[in-house]
Amino acid sequence: MAIISLINRKGGVGKSTISINLAAGLATRESRKPNSKPVLLIDMDDQLSATITAMGGGFDQAFVPVITAENNYPTALANGYGATDSLIIDSLIPRKREEKVKLFKTNKAAMEGLEAQLKTRDEAAFQLTYFLEPIVNDFAHIIIDNPPSAGMLPMNSLVASTHVLIPIEPDGLSLIGLADILRMVENVRATTNPDLQVLGIIPSRFRMVRRQAQDVIGDLEKLYGHLLLPYIKDLAEISSATTAGYDVFSWASESSQSYRCFSNLVDAVVGKLGDA
Ligand SMILES: Nc1ncnc2c1ncn2[C@@H]1O[C@H](COP(=O)(O)OP(=O)(O)OP(=O)(O)O)[C@@H](O)[C@H]1O
Ligand SMILES: [Mg+2]
Repeated sequence: MAIISLINRKGGVGKSTISINLAAGLATRESRKPNSKPVLLIDMDDQLSATITAMGGGFDQAFVPVITAENNYPTALANGYGATDSLIIDSLIPRKREEKVKLFKTNKAAMEGLEAQLKTRDEAAFQLTYFLEPIVNDFAHIIIDNPPSAGMLPMNSLVASTHVLIPIEPDGLSLIGLADILRMVENVRATTNPDLQVLGIIPSRFRMVRRQAQDVIGDLEKLYGHLLLPYIKDLAEISSATTAGYDVFSWASESSQSYRCFSNLVDAVVGKLGDA
């Protein structure tokens, strides 16, 4: 059982897109096992992109009740309660499979206030860990999508996680950002969560034609070769799936580049989790 946080303080690098598709891919694989357990996707970002995609995307308003719920997880978390089944629903992904990724009912306003509320509590960084304790064993895996920050929300995610995945868009400054995140992970490991492991770095929104991207990949291979996971290419089909509220596995054909990028990534993640 793994709790995997997608982390990068930089915005727009593909954290939410990868969270959705990794959750969908892992849920499908798990569902083929006997006595399988579901996958839970936790959205720690008040933009709620992962929740909105998992609940139908931007075209219809199916997600509205899920992001305005009165009984919602940020309120329970901020008040120090434990998670319960009444907070959990089936999402719509993977669209083409019966076994859906599970999701917390949330509330945009409560999410927007969550960081400030957590800071007022004792053991502020441990709140998500305590919150998840009653339900952790109900899931095969938990994927946590995080906001583009290095604040109290991702800190809670890192303390609660067993593994970290770091999507980076390979450009000139991404190596500096990557060093920052690795330091943050090291700090969490030294102080609160010694078992936290970096599962991998995902070059995301990758365009091989860009000279700069090739140079950065070269540097990444030299510095972090053992951590590099399969690239996710920059493909219009990936963003159109997300906008339409689909996982790539249900949206694109099996022979498409986008399908193959994500199935390679899921394979690599499953392989690395198996080795661990
Ligand atoms: N591999 C890709 N190919 C094409 N477009 C992509 C890809 N990955 C993400 N995008 C698009 O880029 C935008 C940002 O992606 P996403 O929301 O996943 O990033 P993020 O890191 O979660 O952003 P934020 O930090 O704001 O939460 C979205 O419009 C998404 O559809
Ligand atoms: Mg996001």
